[in-house]
Amino acid sequence: MKQQLEEIRARAAAALQSAGSLQELDAARVRFLGKKGELTAILKGMGKLTAEERPLIGQLANEIRADIEAHIQQNVELIKERMQEEKLKAETIDVTMPSQKHELGHKHPLSIVLDEVKDIFYGMGFSVASGPEIEWDYYNFEALNIPKEHPARDTQDTFYITENMLLRTQTSPCQIRVMEQQKPPIRVIAPGRVYRSDAVDATHSPIFHQIEGLVVDKGITMADLKGNLESFAKSLYGEDTRIRLRPHHFPFTEPSCEIDVSCFNCGGKGCPMCKGEGWIEILGGGMVHPKVLKNCGVDPDVYSGFAFGIGLERLVMFRFNIDDMRLLYENDVRFLNQF
Ligand code: DAH
Repeated sequence: MKQQLEEIRARAAAALQSAGSLQELDAARVRFLGKKGELTAILKGMGKLTAEERPLIGQLANEIRADIEAHIQQNVELIKERMQEEKLKAETIDVTMPSQKHELGHKHPLSIVLDEVKDIFYGMGFSVASGPEIEWDYYNFEALNIPKEHPARDTQDTFYITENMLLRTQTSPCQIRVMEQQKPPIRVIAPGRVYRSDAVDATHSPIFHQIEGLVVDKGITMADLKGNLESFAKSLYGEDTRIRLRPHHFPFTEPSCEIDVSCFNCGGKGCPMCKGEGWIEILGGGMVHPKVLKNCGVDPDVYSGFAFGIGLERLVMFRFNIDDMRLLYENDVRFLNQF
């Protein structure tokens, strides 16, 4: 039996020697030490031994078991170490390799100019208001003195959700919402997205942006409108900029005007940018119509105000010399990267 045990020791040593993986080591453990393993089989036969032999063989068997276990343990460590080394080798980082480029985003040209406009008006004591893009017919038209069947509705055809609910065609409904919520003095701008059922071309888009302005207080006159908007134009285009008011008609202002700035490209001499005019139209405005004030519970005998609406896309296109509005919405990075 002693002989058999020594043979097991030798076989186990050989098997462990050649085991190259954790699985093979485990198989060897089962083969020699498992319930049906070779060593266990020998121990089962110990009953046949004499009383003198039994402790000697028992001791030897234990020794061999401990031996094999230690050997297995040692090999497990070695194999694990080797696997770790191989893994590290496979993962070696080449610090000289070019890194992946992370493109940093930046503001869209519409946001660049809008933020500038906001800053200018903040500096003049205005705050920013907003209103919903899905608007009631009442706010978008009725309260602004554009009743049903009014011809002004023709130029502002939009997308209707119900007969009384629509995508706003202008930011002017913000005037009504502000006056309903705030008592004068009021000094706000309301930038936002507006919608019209227009076909897309170089100067039209069914979605675009406006910046509304509203000032209401005691004793506000057309001179305030002119002074405020002249300051705005000078801040945006430079100290030499002049403005010009042309009579116009808007249902919610009386009198109404369109405002041009002297061409920031040629200074007013006439060039391709201003189409030889020397002037560029940038906004519409006027004195808030007494009916509009009344609709919002503001007494026109006590208060007066001026309002204006700026088309943001126009400002942006002039600022960056962009000749096609579609570029602003297509999100082509070759275009956007230039800003
Ligand atoms: N809402 C007008 C439009 O979309 C622009 C406008 C003109 C706004 C005059 C005003 C204003 O507040 O006073 O054409």
